[in-house]
Amino acid sequence: MKEQVIFVRNYILRFLYKAILQKIFFLQDPEIIHDRMLNVGRFLGKFSLTRWLVSLLFSYQDKTLSQEILGIKFANPIGLGAGFDKDAVLTDTLPGVGFGFIEVGSITGEACAGNLKPRLWRLKKSKALVVNYGLKNEGSEAIAKSLKGKTFKIPLGTNIAKTNSPNTVKVENGIADYAKAFKEFVQIGDYFTVNISCPNAYGGQPFTDATRLDKLLQRLDEISTKKPIFLKLSPDLSQSEIDRILAISNKHQVAGFICSNLTKNRNNRKIKDSVDGTEGGMSGKVVEDLANNLISYIYRKTKGKFVIIGLGGVFCAEDAYKKIKLGASLVELITGMIFEGPQVISEINQGLVKLLKKDGFGNISQAIGKDN
Ligand SMILES: Cc1cc2nc3c(=O)[nH]c(=O)nc-3n(C[C@H](O)[C@H](O)[C@H](O)COP(=O)(O)O)c2cc1C
Repeated sequence: MKEQVIFVRNYILRFLYKAILQKIFFLQDPEIIHDRMLNVGRFLGKFSLTRWLVSLLFSYQDKTLSQEILGIKFANPIGLGAGFDKDAVLTDTLPGVGFGFIEVGSITGEACAGNLKPRLWRLKKSKALVVNYGLKNEGSEAIAKSLKGKTFKIPLGTNIAKTNSPNTVKVENGIADYAKAFKEFVQIGDYFTVNISCPNAYGGQPFTDATRLDKLLQRLDEISTKKPIFLKLSPDLSQSEIDRILAISNKHQVAGFICSNLTKNRNNRKIKDSVDGTEGGMSGKVVEDLANNLISYIYRKTKGKFVIIGLGGVFCAEDAYKKIKLGASLVELITGMIFEGPQVISEINQGLVKLLKKDGFGNISQAIGKDN
């Protein structure tokens, strides 16, 4: 009975989102809509009544989906990817939306206004976004201050990156910048993501180079933390680059990988819109197969030694299940929520329970890597 009520609730919410809200949103500039959603979300998180209403509309729970990974308890495997809540203003609201965890940021050593506007575009036919924010955020000190002493209802990941500025292009300065943000968040949240794959910043992606990555991880090893560390990878890496990153990660306290960030490659046959006049990396269905290949490769190559968080083009339960069966223990999304509506989190979780039952799994952890 509970399952049917939630199914009908989600069906109505989906209809309202697709027939009305998405149509209105998609007529306007995507960054303006993103900012408005942050304001609405922030307001909804302020009061216990609005938080309760949000969870009445969006939440879903089933013990088949709960797991403990690296000592962290996840009620379900669906998290919000980094980039939606850059300044960590929605940590009170997002648990009610049904997420099992959230990743805030990217947060950089210093505050950064990001790249010039426009810097966000929709590719409607491709079900993707082009993103060129350039690591806009309020900086590690201000964001850490706003979160200090807070308790979080669900696990919180803090995604850190190097400030987008000519001042951090020198490798030593870049490392110092990462270390600054890292130190600020040692006591805040449940896991770290070190974003070495932002496609839209000064100096490119210097830490995909093995020698520089080694130096960066050495510096982070010196900062004592109990939190697991994930590296966020680009989907555009060559096999030899991935192999070198895996070898270096084995030497340091890396617990896993986030596969993946945005793709910069414009010769992608999933692009069905014109991308003329846009700049930056692409998300959604354009990056999905690349992210899946990366998950699959790392899971096979490391025989499940590292925890993988799958990310890129998840729009429904089948998309999330695919990543899990390729080797991801957890899954994140952003673009799917923008195209399908916020009820998609609950739809995916409810759909996953059905898919697991159909395959005879009693818990989500039993499905990880089963297709690999
Ligand atoms: C609007 C937007 C902003 C993003 N900003 C960041 C960021 O600051 N840091 C980061 O690691 N990834 C960022 N990303 C990349 C996403 O976390 C994710 O890797 C990518 O969008 C693929 O997932 P999706 O298809 O579910 O959106 C951003 C993505 C979007 C759509």
